Amino acid sequence: AAVPPAVAAASAPPHLLLICFPGQGHVNPMLRLAKRVAAKGLLVTFSSLASVGARLAAAAGVSAGGDGVPVGRGRVRFEFLEDGDPGPDLDDLMRHLETAGPPAFAALLRRQAEEDRPVACVVANNPFMPWASDVAAGEGIPTAVLWVQSCAVFSLYYHHVHGLVEFPPEDDPGARFKLPGLPEMSAADVPSFLLPSNPLKLHADAIIRQFRTIGRASWVLVNSFAELEADVLAALPGVTPRTPELITVGPLIELHQGQEDDAMRGDLIKAADDCVEWLDAQPPRSVVYASMGSVVVLSPGEVAEMAHGLASTGRPFLWVVRPDTQPHLPEGFLDSVSGRGAVVAWSPQERVLAHPSTACFLTHCGWNSTLETVAAGVPVVAFPQWGDQCPDARYLVEELGMGVRLRGARREAVREAVEAAVAGPRAGEMLANARRLSAAARAAVAPGGSSDAHVQAFVDEVARRSG
Ligand code: UDX
Repeated sequence: AAVPPAVAAASAPPHLLLICFPGQGHVNPMLRLAKRVAAKGLLVTFSSLASVGARLAAAAGVSAGGDGVPVGRGRVRFEFLEDGDPGPDLDDLMRHLETAGPPAFAALLRRQAEEDRPVACVVANNPFMPWASDVAAGEGIPTAVLWVQSCAVFSLYYHHVHGLVEFPPEDDPGARFKLPGLPEMSAADVPSFLLPSNPLKLHADAIIRQFRTIGRASWVLVNSFAELEADVLAALPGVTPRTPELITVGPLIELHQGQEDDAMRGDLIKAADDCVEWLDAQPPRSVVYASMGSVVVLSPGEVAEMAHGLASTGRPFLWVVRPDTQPHLPEGFLDSVSGRGAVVAWSPQERVLAHPSTACFLTHCGWNSTLETVAAGVPVVAFPQWGDQCPDARYLVEELGMGVRLRGARREAVREAVEAAVAGPRAGEMLANARRLSAAARAAVAPGGSSDAHVQAFVDEVARRSG
């Protein structure tokens, strides 16, 4: 492909600095965006908090500071905020970020200028760091936001924050509401942070703040693709003049274009790479892959029911049980399923989904997992817990027709849902839908595809403004 003129002409490539919330569901799309943008010729610095710096640098195989490593026509380097110690839990982290984040980020930006790498553009993945764009503006630097959830979820938040919708009561499952470009929905399809029963108030507040300030960003990039969410995208710009234009740049996946682009990974827990060898030994389309992402915590009772349910399918299964949850596995479970079931603390998930032995994905429907299973063409058993997982599950099952819903972690329900997804009367149709969407996802990020073209246009615009 030709080198874009704006990038080729510049003596030093424009410098894009990403500031990333240190959760896995945020690190993955941000790091993948960093690589896409660098591949088109930019110098990219990936930054996050000091507390995850060492782990991230080790996972990616890139030391912090210095010139970083070449990626395509550009480079990716790592640098971390000097923000001190955030404390043990998420609420502590968010409070810590409010005070320690802005000065540490301002210092990081100034350091770039002092070291002859002035930053042309900041990419922030608000909502949990809503101050990032204010700090950048204070240094005279424009910001792009990467929205790491779906366009449908963006629309739901947007309408709520601007008082354009009233969601029906949670205790009336039959009550419906309708937004432009979205299917009719009930309270169960709403991101749970927006419902009165939401216990995670700090999260909800942060997201709502983001929507009040999102107009300050020069670009709103979104990890989705035009062909997947055409209706909602078409409806969004007309809603109100305050709606920012969403620029689809996804799916931000590692394995695309037939290339293995996952040399620089962002795993915060080390992945058990040998599970790919385990999959190699299983028959084609036989394995149930189960994972609840990086933050969902099932109760000990749910873990036990899931264990019995997976074992009772009679199918081989690969189950991600994070180290903190492993003590809840039923006694003797691992021995009883030995050979047929594998339990790992963390998997190389995209490789697992792309593997020909994988038949279905029992997922919590985090947006990254959702896009990864779409891109791999693997049907799902959808088991959402909270936040955007609820609307994501609704889309996967009812709108995209590529899976079934699991309601409650009872062993019989787990077995029945897995059977329905793998061998039930609608399993063939679900697989065909998944494969059709997989082709569309891959086309979007292939050279000249809709998302690839959007990434190129963004890179060109950053280069033009900085030149
Ligand atoms: C969180 C929220 O829960 C999610 O709803 C939101 O959309 C993003 O932030 P998380 O729960 O971790 O994310 O889920 P998800 O978005 O699916 O991201 C998990 C990432 O970890 C995926 O990219 C997945 O490939 C990766 N992963 C997960 C692994 O690489 N190995 C595993 O074993 C499990």
